[in-house]
Amino acid sequence: MRHISALYPGSFDPPTNGHLDLIERGAKIFDELVVGILRNSEKVPMFSLPERLEMLKVLTAHLKNVRIEAFHGLMVEYAKSIDATCVLRGIRAVSDYEYELQMALMNRKLEPTLETVFMMPAEQYSYLSSRLVREIAQLGGSIKDLVPEMVEQRIKDKLDPAVKLQHARDPKTKKRKRA
Ligand code: PNS
Repeated sequence: MRHISALYPGSFDPPTNGHLDLIERGAKIFDELVVGILRNSEKVPMFSLPERLEMLKVLTAHLKNVRIEAFHGLMVEYAKSIDATCVLRGIRAVSDYEYELQMALMNRKLEPTLETVFMMPAEQYSYLSSRLVREIAQLGGSIKDLVPEMVEQRIKDKLDPAVKLQHARDPKTKKRKRA
């Protein structure tokens, strides 16, 4: 029987519930799913590579055919090096399509044997992105239900003291304290 190994590449800064939804779906249809975290030296990430690796390993520990790794350089080269024949990407809304199509076709030009497979996350994650999670958290908004509890806590630990105060709730009124 054919063994199909897929690569799910991304920045995962931070991992969101949408990413986990896609990982769970991918783990059901592929024999093996490698989540490849891009080591991107251009951007200053919120979470370091070791932090993202650790969080994703903990969050996917229950999925026995999922492996978490880091990569740098061309994604198609990394996919070949791990014998992945598919690339998994999520499409949330029509707005994702143009960018994803361009990337998929360019990757096909670079490596014609690698197929990109698109999957849709659950509707409740269709407006969710790591960038919005970072922005909301930095501005003192609630990121509950957008990221796993573990990630929520790690983000709170990183916020500056003024934002942490906004996130804290007054023990008497249960309302958010104003910074
Ligand atoms: O989570 P993201 O930031 O949308 O993921 C983008 C990612 C990592 C899939 C993409 O930037 C990528 O594959 N980068 C590796 C470098 C590469 O292969 N570039 C050519 C893309 S056509």
